[in-house]
Amino acid sequence: PRPDDHVVVLFGATGDLAKRKLLPGLFHLARAGLLPDRYRIVGSAPADAALGPDGFREHAREAVAAFGRSKPEGPAWQEFEATLSFGAADPGAYDPLLTAVRDAEHAIGGNPRRLFHLAVPPKAFPSVVGELGTTGLAEGGRLIVEKPFGTDLASARALDETIHGVFDEDRVFRIDHFLGKESVDNIIALRFANGFFEPVWNRDHISHVQIDVPEKLTIEGRAGFFEGTGTFRDMIVTHLFQILGFVAMEPPAALDARSLRAEKDKVFQSMRPLDPAHVVRGQYAAYRDEPGVDPHSDTETFAALRVDIDNWRWAGVPFYLRSGKALAQGRHLVTLGFREPPLRMFPTDSRDAAGGRHNALVIDFDDPGRITARFLAKEPGPDMRLGEARMTFAYTDCFNTAHALEGYERLILDAMLGDQSLFTSADGIERLWEASSPLLQNPPPVQSYASGSWGPDSIHQLIHPYAWYLPDES
Ligand code: BG6
Repeated sequence: PRPDDHVVVLFGATGDLAKRKLLPGLFHLARAGLLPDRYRIVGSAPADAALGPDGFREHAREAVAAFGRSKPEGPAWQEFEATLSFGAADPGAYDPLLTAVRDAEHAIGGNPRRLFHLAVPPKAFPSVVGELGTTGLAEGGRLIVEKPFGTDLASARALDETIHGVFDEDRVFRIDHFLGKESVDNIIALRFANGFFEPVWNRDHISHVQIDVPEKLTIEGRAGFFEGTGTFRDMIVTHLFQILGFVAMEPPAALDARSLRAEKDKVFQSMRPLDPAHVVRGQYAAYRDEPGVDPHSDTETFAALRVDIDNWRWAGVPFYLRSGKALAQGRHLVTLGFREPPLRMFPTDSRDAAGGRHNALVIDFDDPGRITARFLAKEPGPDMRLGEARMTFAYTDCFNTAHALEGYERLILDAMLGDQSLFTSADGIERLWEASSPLLQNPPPVQSYASGSWGPDSIHQLIHPYAWYLPDES
């Protein structure tokens, strides 16, 4: 289906996210013919950004040239560019934006829907939402809220209350771009469209799960954002817990937003409150020298933790999560480690040296992603010797990935269609903050780690008796 006609209002239009992801993403959607027949994109930023319509178009062109998948040129670009306008908005001074939105609606005609994308720092969320309410702009519109959604339970609740004063929950889209990644979405297909994964997808067969998202990037000049946020809020609460929800959920009654979100929320309900003794907080050695970082900063740039899910399917199966900046590799991996068979009848095998890698399903959700089953097989020759074997499904081998959308593209499109399946509910996110409370109240001290490493040494104790799947050979 194609979305209804739309006016998209992009708050934070001059910011980093708009530049890297949102403007290039919107252009890609336009090129792919997925945007509505008639739409306008109204950029917004404080008046001191001093951007008129031409300035915004120029800004968008530069953003697409630098980060887009196709160049900003030719008729496709001209058509897209013509949909862009700008309306400044400052607290108490929304008139320019109001005018820009009305002009855009007038240009489209009919009764287009409004979609507000809040790509602004979290501290600005309440004020923007409040203004959307008082100016009447919010009427009938939908809201995309960026992350992190609150910094703890109290602030998330307060934010939900503010938002619900203006937008009903079914018009709120808390965005988490990891859920828009093809291979994360594919976890649902893998589990529920096949007969042979789901029967072993439980405590009887799985010994532990790893959700591992190391990044090579440092904070890349984002000290202002990162100092007050840290890896736990920036990556774990936001992205990794959501993936955990997909990996751990029960089969939904139907493949609709209500059922999917309900099952994911049940997983979060079953999460045992985090035990700070099972959390490693790290900081890369050069972090305190980064411009804008407090020389005594206690902000973590790395977090590894153990999560227990106290439900029928997962009791006794630890989930290990890790993410951090300035690490050895940039990867996105979910690894399901399988239990040993009940009897070891083979004289020699490499399983002891393999650290649990030999018997695992590895979901690599780097774009475009692949899935590898690792197991033991007989090495050719007269003796019964075991060696490690693998079977790999790569998206690029089986499918034409030309039509794949990036996380943000997929999710913006879903928000336009009003489909909340891949968005986080208020209850779900509040529960995640609640389960995180013991850690937030009592964080262990940060441990230093060398850039280019895999984090502080204590990560090995954390996962004992298992071993981190990474680094692997690829
Ligand atoms: C963002 C975080 O949400 O996700 C960044 O704010 C992080 O710190 C990024 O680098 C990672 O996203 P991806 O899709 O590049 O793995």
